[in-house]
Amino acid sequence: MAYDVDDNAIRFSNYLHVLRELVHLSAGHLALEPRFEVKALLGDHLHDDARAVSKIRRRLYELRHPSDYPGAPSPELAALLDRTNTHDTHEYLEIAYGELKPTLIHAIRIHLENVEPLIDEPSLRLLTQLLHRQERHITELPAGREQSVFEDLGALPVRLRETRALRVLPPLEHPARDAFIEVTEQGDPYLTAALYVNGDENHVPTEPEEQKHFFHGLMDAELCAAELMARNSHEHPDMPWDFHVDMARQVWDEIRHAEIHDRLMATELACHWGDYPIGFVYFKSIYALDLLGRLALFNGTSEQKAMWRHSHRRKVLVELGQENVARVFDYLLADEVPHVHNGVRWGTHLLGGDEHAYREKVRELRAGLDATGMPV
Ligand SMILES: [Fe+2]
Ligand SMILES: [Fe+2]
Repeated sequence: MAYDVDDNAIRFSNYLHVLRELVHLSAGHLALEPRFEVKALLGDHLHDDARAVSKIRRRLYELRHPSDYPGAPSPELAALLDRTNTHDTHEYLEIAYGELKPTLIHAIRIHLENVEPLIDEPSLRLLTQLLHRQERHITELPAGREQSVFEDLGALPVRLRETRALRVLPPLEHPARDAFIEVTEQGDPYLTAALYVNGDENHVPTEPEEQKHFFHGLMDAELCAAELMARNSHEHPDMPWDFHVDMARQVWDEIRHAEIHDRLMATELACHWGDYPIGFVYFKSIYALDLLGRLALFNGTSEQKAMWRHSHRRKVLVELGQENVARVFDYLLADEVPHVHNGVRWGTHLLGGDEHAYREKVRELRAGLDATGMPV
């Protein structure tokens, strides 16, 4: 029962519909999930799934260009996808990891049993990678009741010349944190403005007590960054697909940064996530803006200015022989470059391709900030 090219294109279209919905909804729910470990896995998995969508789109282009694939899902698949229409993050995770991913895995296994290894080797390679990643996802985040909803998701028909609209969750009030995290209006009072200004006035935390507070605050800032990028993607489903891939990559980077600080606190600094209060004033000031404003002020300003401070912090810490802490800043700095570029790339896109207009927008919005980057 080998597949012809049409069967293959239909199968890949069905996988794409499931994965696209997972990327969109996991990006929406990431900020609503309170548990740090689960939030971190969601960020990792949504990045995998975004890249999988890109590869499947590419395979569809190779198989059937020009064409209307992937079209829209069949009524049966649409009904399953509609069941994810919940504001309850726990319920969403149950369906995503208990039904959508297991249904996808089951269909990919059937596909792999019937793929022609020589004449359809590109599909074989793609499916092998897809299967491996989806299996890792449901192992890392088990729903406890994994089942395939369809006998074979890949065999469902697709509706060509139609598209499926994605639903957007209501706006966030603030991100969710573990129940043991104390959230206050002013955040950690230990964190002074001198830590966040650029130039001669900048203070690098070098003493144990100040490093504890600094990295704790930085871990929360990384989570906020991941959550902002995830919501950028979720709230703008009509942006080009590459925008969602860029946002997904940044979500994963920021999540990894939070994991790095979590480990650094436990291994080098003798403190832990939850030891100090956090606050959402800065998050809310950025989240209140439209997409262009968020890109200009977060990626184009906050992250752009953080590059200087990371480099400065690294230099000071290397001189003091604090190599392990200094290395963290070295990698944060490297990752920040593409994050700043995300602002340029997509801010320019929103302004009709005019990069100069984006730079002007950044200048204009920066005028409303104090020396630490807070809106005045
Ligand atoms: Fe970061
Ligand atoms: Fe960043």
